[in-house]
Amino acid sequence: MLGVTSCTTPAADEEAAAPAPAAELPYYAADCAPNCTYEDLKVGYAQIGAESEWRNANTSSIKETAEQLGVELLFSDAQQKQENQIKAIRTFIAEGVDVIGHPPVVETGWETVYQEAANAGIPIILVDRRADVPEELYVSYIGSDFVEEGRKAGREMAKLLPDGGNVVELVGTVGSAPANDRAKGFREILEEYPEIVILDSQSGDFTRALGKEVMEAFLKKHGDEIDALYAHNDDMGIGAIQAISEYGLDPGTDIVIVSIDAVRGAFQAMIDGDLNVTVECNPLLGPQFYEMALKTANGEELPRWVPSEESVYFPDNAAEIIETRLY
Ligand code: AHR
Repeated sequence: MLGVTSCTTPAADEEAAAPAPAAELPYYAADCAPNCTYEDLKVGYAQIGAESEWRNANTSSIKETAEQLGVELLFSDAQQKQENQIKAIRTFIAEGVDVIGHPPVVETGWETVYQEAANAGIPIILVDRRADVPEELYVSYIGSDFVEEGRKAGREMAKLLPDGGNVVELVGTVGSAPANDRAKGFREILEEYPEIVILDSQSGDFTRALGKEVMEAFLKKHGDEIDALYAHNDDMGIGAIQAISEYGLDPGTDIVIVSIDAVRGAFQAMIDGDLNVTVECNPLLGPQFYEMALKTANGEELPRWVPSEESVYFPDNAAEIIETRLY
């Protein structure tokens, strides 16, 4: 377990002259600091669940990297429930882990349990998703810019609908950072294209099954009025593709589709002509997570955000690229 103290404060005379300092961040260091190695680390990872291909790739990356590096990993699957993630974090605190990795299923409601971790001297690294908590309650965020992903999706949608059209939106888990931010970024771009209208918007909870179910409901309600689908992840998009085919329309042609993640299933859908664009969201965060965990254990300050590098993919070279995809 790590010890926690406050950062050093400037000398009193400097303090009088300097502008108001930023909020002080707690300082963590493990007993083995500054010489901890990966083999010294005991880490807890409070995973969200197994809702998507993306999530499974993230889990594999976290588990496989721990094994390669010799890190002792306590792993928990919350089955997409916030209360299970909170329980897992409390278990990790009781087990005396050195660092906790946490992709919060939703943005709010974490302050109490994060404070408990801080009181126990255990730093939290947010992985994949941000939480809406004061800065001092986590040491770093490793992951994507979800607003930018939404903007990229919006730009591609505008290219696919040069004469405008009606879009339906499959939203991710309600209250989650990717659902909030991907909706926001997409709308930001669409403001420049008033002839593109969001006809309907509903959550499919990031799962293939709900993506299909909600798309069926959209088709029943709006039928041929739908020109395009924006799915906050590939799994919901793939579920929707099935619904569109079963309805008797041609996905990718009668209804153009933009989704997010760039998992292998999306590349296959592009090869099959069913999906028009996938915006990448990188789940292979294991190596960066353990690198940051080791640094914080050794008493080093971490960057507030370790951003992922991501691209946009199209059908024209999907067959070539699918061979190189790791997830
Ligand atoms: O937080 C990342 C999102 O969560 C992915 O886009 C989605 O597939 C997953 O379930």
